[in-house]
Amino acid sequence: AEVIIVRNQDEAGKIYAQCVTDLIVRKPDCVLGLATGSSPLAAYEALARDVNERHIDVSQVRGFALDEYAGLDPRHPQSYRSTITRTVVEPLGLDPEKIHVPNGDLDSIQEAGAAYDEAIARAGGVDIQILGIGTDGHIGFNEPGSSLASGTRIKTLTEQTRIDNARFFDDDISKVPSHCITQGIGTILKARHLVLLAFGAGKAEAVAETVEGGISSFCPASALQLHPHATVIVDEAAASRLR
Ligand code: F6R
Repeated sequence: AEVIIVRNQDEAGKIYAQCVTDLIVRKPDCVLGLATGSSPLAAYEALARDVNERHIDVSQVRGFALDEYAGLDPRHPQSYRSTITRTVVEPLGLDPEKIHVPNGDLDSIQEAGAAYDEAIARAGGVDIQILGIGTDGHIGFNEPGSSLASGTRIKTLTEQTRIDNARFFDDDISKVPSHCITQGIGTILKARHLVLLAFGAGKAEAVAETVEGGISSFCPASALQLHPHATVIVDEAAASRLR
């Protein structure tokens, strides 16, 4: 992967925004791969600023999110559907009909994964996929041990991830869904350009493992080494364990 060390999240956000605005101008109906979590927020803000200031036409832009909780009403404020609407769709002024989030409805979740991968393929594949990384090296909800060839599917959340996410559910772990539907590592690797963002010392070990460790399902993000066009954008703290 190409590693870019930046001073702060705003600088990282500007690099992402530049990539995406170039893409939209070149390909107005491009397909963005979207992530939730804190890491991409400055990037979405920078992109929204560029799009709005330069009056870039985003009416045809399409998008696919990485993951969603299982069995949580998509209208719940903490669903990833709601989160993507709040942080991406509204600030950029995207057409909500063109933005897809995996369907976590329990009645159809067994079939929903393959259907999601087919929908991505029918859209022509993801052009730029933004990614955060967990302190354990997860991408999407692909925790350590996930197959590097996996497609979109239902997964069990680890205890640690449920503890980490309890802050979004009144600090009550019993309210955190136990399962999710997530793009697989194989799905993520099909995107044409991967942009992984990581900030803070807490991510340093995972970043070093991703970029300089062996390719292993024990660090799902290390699959980026299999990808021909992966960009890892980190601050000094997140880069501190790189050799
Ligand atoms: C987000 C996602 C997760 C996060 C990761 C890092 O859709 O699937 O993999 O990217 O947990 O989260 P933050 O950015 O909050 O540190």
